Amino acid sequence: MNRLLLGTVSAFALTLFAGQALAGPEGCDAGEMVIKFSHVVAEKGHPKGEAAVKFAQRVNKEMDGKACMEVFPNSTLFDDDKVMEALLLGDVQIAAPSLSKFEAYTLKYRLFDLPFLFASLADVEAFGSSDTGKSMLKVMEDEGYTGLGYWLSGLKQFSAKKPLLLPADANGLKFRIQTSDVADAMIAGIGGSAQKLAFKEVYGALQTGVVDGQENSWCNIYTQKFFEVQDGITETNHQTLAYLLVTSTEWLEGLDPEIRDQFLSIAEDETAAANADVANKEAACRQNILDAGGTIRELDATQRQAWVDAMKPVWAKFEGDIGKDLIDAAVAVGAGN
Ligand code: LMR
Repeated sequence: MNRLLLGTVSAFALTLFAGQALAGPEGCDAGEMVIKFSHVVAEKGHPKGEAAVKFAQRVNKEMDGKACMEVFPNSTLFDDDKVMEALLLGDVQIAAPSLSKFEAYTLKYRLFDLPFLFASLADVEAFGSSDTGKSMLKVMEDEGYTGLGYWLSGLKQFSAKKPLLLPADANGLKFRIQTSDVADAMIAGIGGSAQKLAFKEVYGALQTGVVDGQENSWCNIYTQKFFEVQDGITETNHQTLAYLLVTSTEWLEGLDPEIRDQFLSIAEDETAAANADVANKEAACRQNILDAGGTIRELDATQRQAWVDAMKPVWAKFEGDIGKDLIDAAVAVGAGN
């Protein structure tokens, strides 16, 4: 049997069967190595959710009898904080948290959070595929994690309970951010305050007024329905949302070499395929928001420059943690594209 398991599985069942194939019609064949992939976004209509499904389909077809991948979307298994611990415990084998969520393990990924570093997804992709980008996949090996690739998601847009056209409009508002000190400093730069919240809590926090606004990709804003509980979205494209496809170094090194090579080759192919399609998916999510009655505000050149001027000073604050060499390498990729 070679089935893709999607959906909620009880924590009890997972603990009981951790690391071993669930036999029976709903699961993997007995004897197959189970690879659990846990993430927090929607399974459909989202670049990561759909890429995870395709990745599992390839593993389940081509590694039939040897390995079987189960995908758990929507934080049904772990949120992004817990999943890192779960990787080391062997409760899950693959995760893809946003690069903003690795502060406990490395400060190098703060690079990806610098506002207005990358002007387009093509620039992010070019940097990820460069020698410097590839070397950054390994910066957490001392902590027990290996990056397999970068999965792009989108550039980020701001939304709030009132129109945002200039940074001054954000003055005094509270924004939900990921667990990122760069984002915290960036929000301070526009006169707001920041609250770090898990992804699954964002909709409720916006709806009840615990926070006034948020920043995310078009597909997260659409699939999580954030636009329904906000006045509108401002097309700022101010930051990158990208993921690290990550596994435990111990798990990866413990694989039979032939299985590891096949698995890594599928991971590489699926990373490239996902990234090639992400701009289209983001454009579709933006259009879906409009079609559903959401408001999108575009910035003119002067307004956009005001956002850049308010947020870009945070670069200097984090240059020491990230390294000027990495910042220069990322800027050079953008300049060359
Ligand atoms: C967030 O927490 O906003 C994102 O990291 C969620 C995701 O995985 O896209």
